[in-house]
Amino acid sequence: MNIVLTGFMGTGKTSVGRALAAKAGMSFMDIDEQIARDTGLSIQQIFAGAGEGHFRELESRAVELVSLLDRFVIATGGGVVLNQNNMKALRRNGVIVNLMASVDSVLERTKPWQDRPLLIGGDPREKIEALLAEREKFYGNCDLRVDTTGVGVDEVADKIIVGLQGRMPPQK
Ligand code: S3P
Repeated sequence: MNIVLTGFMGTGKTSVGRALAAKAGMSFMDIDEQIARDTGLSIQQIFAGAGEGHFRELESRAVELVSLLDRFVIATGGGVVLNQNNMKALRRNGVIVNLMASVDSVLERTKPWQDRPLLIGGDPREKIEALLAEREKFYGNCDLRVDTTGVGVDEVADKIIVGLQGRMPPQK
């Protein structure tokens, strides 16, 4: 079984995912990093060159592949939850965790916004608020939600382990 971390940009999916994998004796995989490795391009370059639609196709392809893994902590990009097929694939062998954070915290943690194509051009706070409102129903549909506002990486990982008691893959 895998543990899949979802959540808005800047909620700590990658850093928490690494810590959680180490604590739980599991492997770690970050979908955005995998896409960047496979294409030789940054996420920002993919958005700028081929557009969000193409990025979402690459993301869904990567999701299909990582869903075949086992005993992985998988960090997803913030928009993975928007596509039902992505979630169906990830749920096949995974428990879905959602990391949350306040708007202030997201704003702080996503700087510099130039690295986040969806926050460029306009007021980042307004963009974050609008996207969060739009996505709440998807994030709310996860198996476990953990608020990361003001909480350290290790502590968030511990909260996930406690929250998933009975659903964690057994230690090898
Ligand atoms: C996105 C989040 C990003 C990245 C892309 C789109 C989103 O990942 O996948 O810029 O739609 O929220 P992070 O959540 O890791 O920043």
